[in-house]
Amino acid sequence: MHRAQAKLRIRDATSHDLPAITDIYTDAVLNTVATLDTVTPSLASRAEWLQHHGGRFPVLVAVVDGNVAGWASLSVWNDRGAYTHTAESSVYVARTHRKRGIGTSLLAALESRARELTFHVIIARVVSTNETSLKLVRGAGYVDVGVIREVGYKFDTWLDMCVLQLILPCIPGK
Ligand SMILES: CC(C)(COP(=O)(O)OP(=O)(O)OC[C@H]1O[C@@H](n2cnc3c(N)ncnc32)[C@H](O)[C@@H]1OP(=O)(O)O)[C@@H](O)C(=O)NCCC(=O)NCCS
Repeated sequence: MHRAQAKLRIRDATSHDLPAITDIYTDAVLNTVATLDTVTPSLASRAEWLQHHGGRFPVLVAVVDGNVAGWASLSVWNDRGAYTHTAESSVYVARTHRKRGIGTSLLAALESRARELTFHVIIARVVSTNETSLKLVRGAGYVDVGVIREVGYKFDTWLDMCVLQLILPCIPGK
């Protein structure tokens, strides 16, 4: 068992978590290809993002010793009606808390919530050079669907995007 798991708590995010969520995301925007976002997020923009989540599209936070160590979300994949049972997952862990199982725990909590919410497919999009994230999502059971070549451009480099999916049992209407 990873060291952090004993004192780890995963719960739904609230507006009080926004500064920590924003800090974690800012690091990813500025320094990594974990996201292809290139605009440094403001607290206000993250607050708007959080407002658009909730209900069927939760944001979860991992709390260690009272501090937000990471977050994960289910987001709309496509707003056309027939995609109702599909969502996209994201997971981010603060640098100081990585490699202790928090990303794995967040993805597991997200999957369990997705099952409750009757999602059938969760999609993860991961840049091909982000080997840690690929390991994380494949370890959680996501399977590779394909690669969109050179679809992103960040840090003066064309980026390939791997698309992975997790299929969950779901009977629409039940
Ligand atoms: C990807 C990320 C969420 C992983 O979080 P984490 O809490 O460190 O993940 P875990 O500790 O649960 O580790 C998951 C697996 O990845 C491995 N791993 C984690 N960091 C690693 C690293 N730097 N190098 C190699 N393997 C690594 C772990 O060993 C583990 O594999 P195992 O189960 O075989 O032991 C984290 O690195 C991160 O936030 N990265 C930036 C954001 C990002 O890329 N998000 C994904 C895009 S949506």
